[in-house]
Amino acid sequence: AIIVVVISVPTILTIFDTQRPAPEGALRIEVIGHQWWWEFRYPEEGIVAGNQFYIPTGRPVELRLHSADVIHSFWIPRLGGKRDVNPQPAPAEGQELHTNQILFTADEEGVYLGQCAEFCGESHGIMRMVAHAVSPAEFDAWIREMRSGATSADALTMRAQTPGATAPVGDTTGAAAQVGDSARVQPQGAPGAQPPPPP
Ligand code: CUA
Repeated sequence: AIIVVVISVPTILTIFDTQRPAPEGALRIEVIGHQWWWEFRYPEEGIVAGNQFYIPTGRPVELRLHSADVIHSFWIPRLGGKRDVNPQPAPAEGQELHTNQILFTADEEGVYLGQCAEFCGESHGIMRMVAHAVSPAEFDAWIREMRSGATSADALTMRAQTPGATAPVGDTTGAAAQVGDSARVQPQGAPGAQPPPPP
């Protein structure tokens, strides 16, 4: 009992620490779990990444967790711990839905490996993600590179609005709609693959 009490103090403090409201200047990333890949949307930067994402060191990062289908669990052990990723129905008028979040700051540059931690179907075991924590300058360079490439949110939005383009992901959850754009597109080929340029 004494050991449990001793362990519970830092555990509970850390859980509350990762649940705080994001401070001013935090980097917000909308994370969307899909069977079986992870989507990372940077609404302020206007980019979308798949399975691998970049964060700057020294700046608080707020991950807001959504699912497009079933319950997943976001887990990068060395960054903020484990949290359920819940599918959400479209909210009724005046209703506010709870969105799970994780707040953390990466102090050290490095590659942080993660894995979906909730059984979510036959390919659950390969539903991994990689966080690259880099210097703020490298992060800005990555954002510029993503913006100039075919993976930008604009390109995805254009494809989504093009007749005959890949059908949008079925809006069964409303989760994607909350992210605030129409870039609901199925990736082509492997997760993280570059979609073809808009026609
Ligand atoms: Cu997603 Cu297991």
